[in-house]
Parts: sequence; structure tokens; C-alpha cells
Amino acid sequence: MFKCAIDGGAASGKSSTARHVARRLGFGYIDTGSMFRAVTLQVLRQQVDPKDKDKVMRIAQATRLFYPSMDRVALNGEDVTEAIRTPLVTRHTSSVASNPGVREVLARLQRQMANDTKQQFFKAEGYKRGFHFMPGVVMDGRDIGTVILPDADLKVFMVADAWVRAERRYKEHPQGSVQEIYEALLERDKADTQREIAPLTKAPDAIQLDTSRMQFEDQVKTIEDLIIERIEKR
Ligand code: DC
Repeated sequence: MFKCAIDGGAASGKSSTARHVARRLGFGYIDTGSMFRAVTLQVLRQQVDPKDKDKVMRIAQATRLFYPSMDRVALNGEDVTEAIRTPLVTRHTSSVASNPGVREVLARLQRQMANDTKQQFFKAEGYKRGFHFMPGVVMDGRDIGTVILPDADLKVFMVADAWVRAERRYKEHPQGSVQEIYEALLERDKADTQREIAPLTKAPDAIQLDTSRMQFEDQVKTIEDLIIERIEKR
């Protein structure tokens, strides 16, 4: 089983890149940010203070997550793919993500999913092109290469200029202004980087990929090539 960990700051393009790479290679894909977002949504719906560590941890323990496909997520049986992306949920996710109890619950789930991922290489473009025949998983987040999968076969740390990230995010979801998105991004990066538990940081053996001047297709191709190169060396 080939494991690829992709970490990086807010709106660095990790998720869309990781999803495409997984699709092309027929690997499983796990978006760990969606898990923190889903717990946050549940916390807000139950009108619990996101900073109340015990109550928030209990909500995380009771949350049932299900991924019917690579781009949909269900929370206790309800499709919440869009509901977890609102600015309100985004704003409160940092404090939920700094809760050690929540991280422990989700870390267990993430490792279990990485090992259980169903392979679909027969459907993958890469397989059709005869690239490889190896099951694998691509997982993205903030601490995948450092904490969740320290033994990953490939670790990528994605960075991009904050203003470029804000412009990209605005193009995807034109809400508010680029300036507002930019400020919110910096705030989220600061919270994720400075928290005590599992902070956002590059693993020493990760390859840094600066996508500020890269086209989306090139990002996908770069990571795909790195994976193939490592598979071929095995
Ligand atoms: O990648 P994203 O924007 O969907 O992540 C949402 C939040 O969850 C973000 O504030 C950081 C946090 N997160 C985390 O702490 N650890 C992860 N592995 C993934 C996300």
C-alpha cells in the first residue's frame, strides 16, 4: 500500500490537487479537514461553545462520518458537503482542531481509513496508461506527514503566496472580498501553525511544493510523477 501525505496551509490547493492525483492513480483519497469541519458543524448545531473542550470532545466521539464518494461527506447519515464549507464553520474549525481530545478521536479514524481504503485502480486513468499496479491512498491535512502517517512513502508540503491563495479561493467562491479572504487565511494559518498540538509544519523528509506560479494541472502532474517515481524504485 502506497501512502502519500499532503500537508499545507489554508486554501493552498491541497484538497483539489490530492483528489485529482488519487483519481488519476486509482488511489483512495481522504480529506482530513472535512472531519474537523464536520465536528465543528455539529458543535455549532448543538449550540455548544467551540472552546468547551469536554463537550466538544464528546461530540467528536459521537460523530459518525461516512464518505460515499471522493467528494461527498455524510455526518450521521446526512450529506453535509456544502454545509461544512460556510464561513461560520470555517472560522470556528481552528479552535475545534486545537482540542487534543478531538484530534485523538479523528487521528484514530484517519489511520484506520488509510489502512482500509478501498482500491479502484481498475478505474484509474494511470492504470489504463499502464503506470502501475499498486494500491494506495492520498491523505491531506496539516499533520499528516508529521503525526498521522509518519511512515508515508511520499510527503508533500504545499505552500503558495497568501495573496495568490486568497485570489484562487475568491474565484472558487466569490463571497466577500479578496482582502477579507486574505486576512481570514492569515489568521487560520497562524492558529494552525502556533497551536500546541500537531501544529502545521513541514516534516523534515517532506518535499516542499510552491504552487504560487503553477497551473493546477502542473501541480497534479508533479505529485503524480513523484509517486510513480517512488513506486518504480521499490
Ligand atoms: O483543510 P481545511 O481548510 O478543510 O481544514 C479545516 C481546518 O481543520 C483548518 O483550520 C485546520 C484544521 N485541520 C487540522 O488541524 N488538521 C488536519 N489534518 C486537517 C485540518
